[in-house]
Formats: sequence, structure tokens, C-alpha cells
Amino acid sequence: MNKIIFFGACFSLLIACSPKTTQTGAVVEPVTKTLSASALQGQTIYTEKCGACHKLFKPEKFSEAKWRHEVPEMAKLAKISAEDENLVLTYVLESIK
Ligand code: HEC
Repeated sequence: MNKIIFFGACFSLLIACSPKTTQTGAVVEPVTKTLSASALQGQTIYTEKCGACHKLFKPEKFSEAKWRHEVPEMAKLAKISAEDENLVLTYVLESIK
């Protein structure tokens, strides 16, 4: 008997925690901006490689021109590949668009 109540409780929890959908059926994302796959990859590289020497600057903290200038400089310091450098740039620029 207790088992039935236990499983019932688990089931209700599952329902309560499943993602909410809109009327069109699309899953509502908590993030306001939709980043491309490359930008998301760039975000991961950014969080892993760019916070070693200073705090992670928010993309909106600097202008596009500033990022275009800084990212190549910082890519050298962070010792990341040209490909990763591009992904990081894609991430910050998409975030401030
Ligand atoms: C080896 C240490 C190091 C790593 C790793 C590093 N940075 Fe930096 N970063 C610095 C230093 C030192 C400065 C300040 C001097 C300068 O601007 O050259 C700086 C400055 C900056 C600035 C300018 C801040 C300002 O107020 O003008 C930005 C933007 C920045 N870094 C982004 C990045 C990004 C993006 C990455 C990853 C690709 C990164 N950094 C990785 C050391 C690092």
C-alpha cells in the first residue's frame, strides 16, 4: 500500500517538473536570446578558457569593435585555436545583437 502512495507521489512530481509548453506546443526557454549552435560552442569555450586570468566579462559590457579587437589578443593569451577564437567571437557578437 505504501509503495503505491510512493509511486503516485513520484509520478505527480514528474508531471509537475515537466517543461511547460505554449499553446503552439513549443517549449518555453528561460533564456531570452536564441544562440546558434556555434555561439553555444563558443560560450562553452569562453566559460572554460577566458575566466582564468580575469572575471568573465559580460558580452554586453563591450562594443562589437572592442570584442573584435580583444578576442584575437585574448585567444593568444588563452592559447586557443583560430577555430575556437571564431566560436568565442560568434558567441559574444550574437549575444549583443
Ligand atoms: C593568460 C591570462 C588571460 C586569459 C587566458 C584571457 N585574458 Fe583577457 N585579459 C588578460 C589581461 C592581462 C587583460 C588586461 C590587459 C589587456 O587588455 O591586454 C585582459 C583583458 C581582457 C579584455 C578587456 C577588458 C577591458 O576592461 O578592457 C577582454 C574583453 C578580455 N580580456 C577577454 C578575454 C577573452 C574573451 C578571453 C578568452 C579567449 C580571455 N580574455 C582570456 C588576461 C587574460
